[in-house]
Amino acid sequence: MENIEAQVVKSLDGEDIELYDFIPYLLQDLWEIGASPEVIIDMVKRHIGKSDISVLDLGCGKGAVSVKLAKAVGCKVKGIDALKDFIEYAEDKAREYGVSNICKFVVGDIRECYEEDYDLIIFAACGDIFGDLDATVVKLKAMVKNGGYIIIDDAFCEADKQVDGYITHEEVINAFKKNKLELIEESIIGNEALKVINDANNRSIALRATELKIKHPEKSWLFDNYIWKQLEECKVLETQVKCATWLLKKVE
Ligand SMILES: C[S@@+](CC[C@H](N)C(=O)[O-])C[C@H]1O[C@@H](n2cnc3c(N)ncnc32)[C@H](O)[C@@H]1O
Repeated sequence: MENIEAQVVKSLDGEDIELYDFIPYLLQDLWEIGASPEVIIDMVKRHIGKSDISVLDLGCGKGAVSVKLAKAVGCKVKGIDALKDFIEYAEDKAREYGVSNICKFVVGDIRECYEEDYDLIIFAACGDIFGDLDATVVKLKAMVKNGGYIIIDDAFCEADKQVDGYITHEEVINAFKKNKLELIEESIIGNEALKVINDANNRSIALRATELKIKHPEKSWLFDNYIWKQLEECKVLETQVKCATWLLKKVE
């Protein structure tokens, strides 16, 4: 199993494990670091539509999806993330939003958590933490009730364009079908809208990287490399693949 620090860095588009300790500093100005909470809230309201549901947000980051969903719907949410600083941030936000009574945040490795019987599992912008999409779906399905829901946020490439690290739309849909998950809704974010979000996020990360370079000049290469990797990944997301959120139902 891949070392947790390496996996956290990779899930946030870094490649050097030395970056691990600096991630909370670099991302301190951002709350949303993955999926759009609004897209997820909208799906839950329209298709599930009740407040007495239990939700598990795996790799919840700084809790933007969990806290906003709990506030909008009134559901109970448990968020798990490997980074202690992120979990503390999520707890602060839950207090600020007045939902700490229905939100629980836990530091942990989601590859080792044993959870079951949830009405909804969220796995957003967490890529290949559980392996490929097939392995991911098997893992998520085991944690949800029959008749319950799974939300996955990820990206896919066009059938005629091969992009390293991404499968095609057809392969995504086949993984859902093979694992008997009914596709309830697919929401694809427009490239222009994505660029606006990415540009703003990258500006704030670059400013924090500049501060770190002044404080740790001997590690300038580490921060420069992270910024470069971020820009490269954003370019792929904006021009070569499509980012999507899928709402799935466990039918058997
Ligand atoms: C791109 S962020 C997505 C955060 C959140 N789901 C969202 O959409 O805002 C990926 C998250 O996965 C977490 N992560 C990576 N590997 C993990 C693991 N094995 N166990 C728990 N969390 C993990 C990272 O710490 C990071 O917060």
